Amino acid sequence: MVDAFFPATDNPVSDRYQDLVQRAQRDPEEFWLAQAQRLAWHTQPMHASRSDFTGDVRVSWYEDGRLNAAENCLDRHVLYQPDNAALIWQGQEDGHREVISYRELHARVCRLANVLRRLGVKKGDRVAIHLPMVAEGVISMLACARIGAVHVVLFGGFSAEGLAERLTDSGAVVVITADVARRGPKKIPSKTTMDEAIKLCGAQSAVRNVLVVPVTGADVPMQKGRDLSYTAEVALEIPDCPAEVMNACDPLFLLYTSGSTGRPKGLVHSTGGYLVWASFTQELVFDAKPTDVFWCTADTSWITGHTYVVYGPLVNGGTILVYEGLPSWPQPGRWWDVIDQNQVSVFYTSPTVIRAAMREDDSVVQSRSLSSLRVLGTVGEPISPEAWKWFYAEVGRNACPVVDTWWQTETGGVMITACAQNVAGKPGAAGLPLPGVAVTLTDAKGQDIEGEGEGLLCLAQSWPGQAMTLWQDHERFRKTYFTTCPGHYFSGDGARRDATGYYWITGRVDDVVNVSGHRIGTAEIEDAVAEDHAVVESAAVGVPHDLKGQALVVFVVPKAEGAFDATAVNKAVAAGVGRYAVPEKIYVVPDLPKTRSGKIVRRLLRKIAANDLDNMGDLSTLADPDIVAELIKLVAQQN
Ligand code: PRX
Repeated sequence: MVDAFFPATDNPVSDRYQDLVQRAQRDPEEFWLAQAQRLAWHTQPMHASRSDFTGDVRVSWYEDGRLNAAENCLDRHVLYQPDNAALIWQGQEDGHREVISYRELHARVCRLANVLRRLGVKKGDRVAIHLPMVAEGVISMLACARIGAVHVVLFGGFSAEGLAERLTDSGAVVVITADVARRGPKKIPSKTTMDEAIKLCGAQSAVRNVLVVPVTGADVPMQKGRDLSYTAEVALEIPDCPAEVMNACDPLFLLYTSGSTGRPKGLVHSTGGYLVWASFTQELVFDAKPTDVFWCTADTSWITGHTYVVYGPLVNGGTILVYEGLPSWPQPGRWWDVIDQNQVSVFYTSPTVIRAAMREDDSVVQSRSLSSLRVLGTVGEPISPEAWKWFYAEVGRNACPVVDTWWQTETGGVMITACAQNVAGKPGAAGLPLPGVAVTLTDAKGQDIEGEGEGLLCLAQSWPGQAMTLWQDHERFRKTYFTTCPGHYFSGDGARRDATGYYWITGRVDDVVNVSGHRIGTAEIEDAVAEDHAVVESAAVGVPHDLKGQALVVFVVPKAEGAFDATAVNKAVAAGVGRYAVPEKIYVVPDLPKTRSGKIVRRLLRKIAANDLDNMGDLSTLADPDIVAELIKLVAQQN
């Protein structure tokens, strides 16, 4: 395993970084109160953390502080840099580009905030945002924040059922969607999918209005009294709107993510702590300056998009780039052109994108200038040392630090990385915990591992960006994250610590599969497959995949003997979850390996699906040990 600093260095950590780590350790309360000064408060907080990982579990930051997130992202920058670009929107076609100044962004956010208020949206109400990468996505999030509404951003790739589940759970009263979205050459019917989703919610729907953003200008059905044109509504409003003063612990947003049970989890992020974390990490991790053009390629419907497309760079007064399109459409290297055309200085993307780019001819990247780049980052999945080095050499031209950032929806922002200009990188390793982040590795018995070793990746103390709870289900929050390693937050990941204290993420240890950085719960897939009544049971597992990191494979036991249409399984997953979760491969099998108490042994399925047939372990505990040989044979036949 590659385990050296790159480029080579004797001193991996800067004095400044060391000092931050020590200060955070010495007096966390003082350190985090000082970091709170990054924000503009209506009432200054006198306390930093009142969190407790024992008992009922409490995550509470800056609880006596009062502020507004949109004011922090806009108003204070309007005061001294009104004409600086806040948002550059680049459409997927050349010529579709808009530069929005801080003054203009403030005005557009205020107009929409006024619309939402007029529609009766109150502090604490939920508003669902279901938009592609257009400026209105960012504007909608900030408009919610301005009036104290809790935004719930929903991925454009969810099926109607997936959307309905989240609309019902969140109780969203207004939805902001697109007529039709573009995705390369494809058109995504956002509005009609949303219509279907609201219909599926039936009497449980709280949706009163749907605002429709004309992304393509397509004609879409509008329901009288409920559906409204975004453009017409904002035109009726003035470009100023008083901000709602929020308590630091009031929710800023809910964001759904997958866990190891079927139901998606609505993580609740706070206003004050989250924003401090967004500001602190964006500056420290990327060495970001207000003069940067910061391009985080994540969709705003993921946490990465929340923290590093929107809140982090804007709260710090930078310029964000929002790009509508795909990396290699309409031509290979499209993203490199976007970097050159917009003079992007910080580029934050995923290992999947890098792996895909590596497969193209090197001339694609070499024919672009990329001279505006200063810092590169990756997130979402482990990056191999080869991909890290390719990114460093070919995209960064051996001159830009690469930050591999480990974090999660639950953490709000980066937790482990090699901060640009402050911590030396090691290809394949995430890096060191940020100042104030108390990472521990824990063994199966719940004991902390000291020094070099491998174990469950946990956090021993709260940090400002930590999600406060799960929407309307604090008990599930406690059980999911705080029972595996009592007194610690358990991330669901495993990791190794090397001799220099660097962390190497080994991946999920629960039933979550990471496909191209998309977190997919196997139980979600199995629940969707169960909707197909020709299936007795199924088991979804992840297998290594060259391009996607991991791919999803489903073993299906059909009901009757004879013909079974495996494509029906794909349809069930596309309908129940979304097209992005459709399995790579379906194996039709007569039974699954189970323990005598009936528990499916996924470890064996993973090995069989990956054709990794050494060390199958002790099979004698299985109810039917012969099934393993049969499955190996069937998988080989069906490949
Ligand atoms: O397994 C880890 C993986 O992605 C999971 C979090 O997924 P999500 O909540 O969707 O957030 C993704 C973006 C923050 C983690 O539990 N993961 C994230 N970053 C890395 C990673 N695995 C390895 N290396 C990373 N840098």
